[in-house]
Amino acid sequence: MAGIDYTERIPNNVALHENRRLQRALEDWQPKFLDWWQDMGPNGFQAKETYLRTAVSVDAKGWAHFDYVRMPEYRWGIFLAEPEPGREVNFGDHKGQPAWQEVPGEYRGTLRRLIVTQGDTEPASVEQQCHLGRTCPSLYDLRNLFQVNVEEGRHLWAMVYLLDAHFGRDGREESEALLQRRSGDADKPRILGAFNEKTPDWLSFFMFCFFTDRDGKYQLASLAESGFDPLSRTCRFMLTEEAHHMFVGEAGIMRIVQRACELMREHKTEDLRPHGGMDLRLIQKYLNFHCSVSLDLFGSEISTNAANFYTTGLKGRFEETRKHDDHQLKDATYPVAELEGERIAMREEGALVSLNERLRDDYVADCARGLARWNEVIRKHGIDFELTLPHRAFHRAIGIFADVRVSPDGRVISQADWDARHGEWLPTEADKAYVESLMQPVAEPGKFANWIAPPARGINGRAVDFEYVRLG
Ligand SMILES: [Fe+2]
Ligand SMILES: [Fe+2]
Repeated sequence: MAGIDYTERIPNNVALHENRRLQRALEDWQPKFLDWWQDMGPNGFQAKETYLRTAVSVDAKGWAHFDYVRMPEYRWGIFLAEPEPGREVNFGDHKGQPAWQEVPGEYRGTLRRLIVTQGDTEPASVEQQCHLGRTCPSLYDLRNLFQVNVEEGRHLWAMVYLLDAHFGRDGREESEALLQRRSGDADKPRILGAFNEKTPDWLSFFMFCFFTDRDGKYQLASLAESGFDPLSRTCRFMLTEEAHHMFVGEAGIMRIVQRACELMREHKTEDLRPHGGMDLRLIQKYLNFHCSVSLDLFGSEISTNAANFYTTGLKGRFEETRKHDDHQLKDATYPVAELEGERIAMREEGALVSLNERLRDDYVADCARGLARWNEVIRKHGIDFELTLPHRAFHRAIGIFADVRVSPDGRVISQADWDARHGEWLPTEADKAYVESLMQPVAEPGKFANWIAPPARGINGRAVDFEYVRLG
């Protein structure tokens, strides 16, 4: 039985009451977390009852319980996937040894850094999204935003548990620091660039869930392969929550695309601004932006850090245990995109130093599957337009393409060309102002903003016009 004990102050399935030191550390952190949530969580909605899903067990089926909850009363806690008996380190130099239940001393600093970097993204996204409630396109969408927010809050708990349980005083200091950094703050920013960008509107929010949360999925999936078993089990359970966040993003954009197509046909025009819609070119610009900043999150193409994480058994490849090779990669190579003068060319590099790029490739393939589903909607409307992923070298700030200007179709261009054309490729101030002008709240059950189609179905078998958030 993989149930979660909700009778304790901190719900958990890790027998927290048997570890007094850890229990005290977490009970000390809990009120600080709640202060942070009140401060930085969904602005203006803390007292509203929201129809939320809470984890009640960690097995694949039936872990979710739905009910009205006020967000500050959400039962955040510590839930690890069930242990796999006899699990081993499955890759790198320690392949074949029993998986570690304690942090190996020599990898302590590296492992702590990996956990802190992942942990930092979780509260960051809540901060980025804290003003969106005020401009929700429907109660259905408002509820989905809050579901994502409380689960990101729980992901922070998941990382803080690892820090407090396994890293002593350093871990406790890192747990505090996770509540002190702020997204976009000049003095104490969040660690990764994309998590300091603004999420000012719902088009950005859905793009963020589709592209940036998907980076999270790929990072978590690689950490779920870790030889450090508590990290693996923590990430495996987080992935079940992450799937919902990507659904919110993909379905949200699909509904915006759907509505754009309907308005195009109704008014026989591509220009939807007089009709209060988001045209496909506007959607493409936001897509270009969010895709490119999310690609940066995977790090440099060639990375000795990535090689070390793998060799030491701390972070695997996506679906490591399903791959049929030696899981050591010392002699293997991998094709990596590189700059050859003015050309972008492929070159075989050592597989170990190319692991960031390999994970980025897995990610891009996953994004492309989502785009194909959006394009299917456009095709079904008989409209001749295709959304495309920008070339991986486009608008990059990290890695070998950070210093060159590249068009979305992958041509290296001059700075002058970039200056003349980037407004066709990325949202301009006018685009942002237009999107902002559409952000008028719609909060009547069953009603939707004009720029987005209703979903095909509601949540947990409820009707689309169910009162997902009680605003009264
Ligand atoms: Fe998360
Ligand atoms: Fe997420």
